[in-house]
Amino acid sequence: MKVIPTGKILGARVEDLDLATDLGPSQVDDLMILLATHGVLEFPRQTLSTRQLKRFSEKFGELYLSPGGRAQAAGFPEVMILSNMLEEGKAVGLSDAGQAWHTDMAYSNIIALTNVLYGTTIPQRDGRPLGNTELRNMHKVYEDLPADIKQRLKGKTISHDFNKFWELMRERPGSPRAPLSAEERAQRPPAVHAAALTHPITGRTVLYANPGYAVAINELPADESDQLLDYLFEFQSRPEYLYTYSWNKDSVLMWDNIGTTHNAVADYTRDEHRYIQRCQVMATRFYGEAGTRVPRMFARQQA
Ligand SMILES: [Fe+2]
Repeated sequence: MKVIPTGKILGARVEDLDLATDLGPSQVDDLMILLATHGVLEFPRQTLSTRQLKRFSEKFGELYLSPGGRAQAAGFPEVMILSNMLEEGKAVGLSDAGQAWHTDMAYSNIIALTNVLYGTTIPQRDGRPLGNTELRNMHKVYEDLPADIKQRLKGKTISHDFNKFWELMRERPGSPRAPLSAEERAQRPPAVHAAALTHPITGRTVLYANPGYAVAINELPADESDQLLDYLFEFQSRPEYLYTYSWNKDSVLMWDNIGTTHNAVADYTRDEHRYIQRCQVMATRFYGEAGTRVPRMFARQQA
C-alpha cells in the first residue's frame, strides 16, 4: 500500500489496498496508527459488498448497533445507511445525519474509535461533489490552547448528552424528528469523559469537547462551565483546524473519532442523490470495561 498525506491539517490517501481482502492483524495495526496519525484516511476505488464493509470495519473494534434500529442495511444491522434516496416513496436511510459539529458516540460510556463510510452515490453539481465532510484536528486544538486554559481543564470532566444534538437537528426547518421520549432519553443517559483526553493510540492529549454533545464541565459552577465551553467551541472553530473532504464515488473514508470532530455539509437537495453505508466502530480495544475512563494504550505504538 502507498500512503499519500494531503499536506493539510488532516488526511492521507491510502492507495493500492483492497479492503475487500481479509486483512491480517499487523495490517490492521498499521492502519490503526495511520488513522490516529493522519486523523482521516481515504481508500479510493473500492468495490465492497455490505458484508465486506462490515468485515473490514469490525477488525478495529466492536460495531455499534443503534438501539432504535434506524436505517439499517438489509440483513446487516451494524451497517447504517446515510441517504436522501427513496424507495417506493419511503426513505432508504437517514437523510440528516451529522449535520452540525459533533463527535460520534461522545454520549456513550465507551466512546467511538472510528467511523467507516463507503460512498457509492455522491451528489454532484456543475461537476463538483456535494455533501462534503468537514473535520477538525483536536490534537492540534489542544496543543494550541493557552496554558491557563490547559491548567483550568486539568482533572476536569465533561458531560455529553445525546439529546443536545437531537434537539439541534429538530430545530431545523422541516425536521422529521420528534422530541425524544423519556424512554429514549433513558436509553442514552449522558456520559462523562475527561475534557483533556489521552488518545490511546498517539498517547497525546486531545480536547474532547464537541459542540454537538458537550453540555457541562462537571467540576465548575454552571455559568463558568458555560463560559469555558463557549470559549472551547469558539477556539476549535478557527479555520486553521479545519479539513474538508470532498467525496469521490467508491471511496471508503475513515476518521479518528477521538482525535477529530466532524460536520456533514448539507448543501444538496432531495433530487441530488447520496448513498453512503457506514459502520461505527467503538473503542472497545481501548476502553474494555464499561465505565473505564483510562484507556489501555496501543501497545505497538508505545513500544
Ligand atoms: Fe457523525
